[in-house]
Amino acid sequence: MIECQNIVKIYKIDDEHEVMALQGLDLSIEKGEIMGIVGNSGSGKSTLLNMLGGLDRPTGGKLIVDGKELLRLTDKDLIQYKLETVGFIWQNNARNFIPYLTAVENVELPMLLKGKYRRERAKELLEMVGMSHRLNSKLDRLSGGEQQRVAIAISLANNPSLLLADEPTGSVDTKTADIILDVFRHLNQQLGVTIVIVTHDQELTKKMDRVVAIRDGKTSSEILRRSSYFENEAEVVIEQNEETHVELALIDNAGRVQVPNEYLESIGLNGSNKLKVELENGKILLQNPNSK
Ligand SMILES: Nc1ncnc2c1ncn2[C@@H]1O[C@H](COP(=O)(O)OP(=O)(O)O)[C@@H](O)[C@H]1O
Ligand SMILES: [Mg+2]
Repeated sequence: MIECQNIVKIYKIDDEHEVMALQGLDLSIEKGEIMGIVGNSGSGKSTLLNMLGGLDRPTGGKLIVDGKELLRLTDKDLIQYKLETVGFIWQNNARNFIPYLTAVENVELPMLLKGKYRRERAKELLEMVGMSHRLNSKLDRLSGGEQQRVAIAISLANNPSLLLADEPTGSVDTKTADIILDVFRHLNQQLGVTIVIVTHDQELTKKMDRVVAIRDGKTSSEILRRSSYFENEAEVVIEQNEETHVELALIDNAGRVQVPNEYLESIGLNGSNKLKVELENGKILLQNPNSK
């Protein structure tokens, strides 16, 4: 679904200053995946989402989404792409909907932009996110969690193949965040839509099949779940256990690997910048050079 190769994004602030928000980021996302992106504030998560959503263009690299090479699209094709291929959900509700319109009117709006509005479909989408009892409520009358659910229905208005959510649970409590994630999982299963969710929430990432960490504008590591949360809900308890996921460190083109800090600390390597590297029985061993 998504192939990012060596994506660079430089924001020019003025004649003398620029910020390199993405520094050669590589990432592949399969069709139908629901995956998380984590990383410190300022690490480039929103920038990446904006590039994927066609809201802005990368400065360099290759970015293919659903067979389209975004850097090569004309402005007109990019508008089409934003309207038809992707749906966005933001943390900031002012970006998600128009508060004085009803839920159903808000879902119809992106349909109108595309040319045909279908009330039945709008109702169906609101039903899918569990909001059929509030079809005609104005958005500013709904709770934060309900507003986010409507925002998800709006993002689906034009049947996108990709949903991009930037901290969609950033302004709601834990329980509500959980419900919202369940809505995403349900849609992922029902519609097969690929979903990328940026989040700070460790609890939420436990329910995703794959989580990629971004550090300084590059992908640094990723976690794959051994047993899918989606296939077997009974795994939830075991899911809390660290044994059920595999931490994969990414190797960049130059062969550099980023080792998680807590691993380095656990072998007493805080502060030191040297590791002993050995090949043993087909495995690479990284050791504290001072230990035997
Ligand atoms: N429009 C912009 N103009 C200039 N700098 C920006 C702009 N957007 C983001 N940045 C900078 O790019 C870096 C990455 O930002 P962002 O993608 O928003 O990070 P995150 O979403 O992970 O917090 C930060 O240093 C941020 O200040
Ligand atoms: Mg952000």
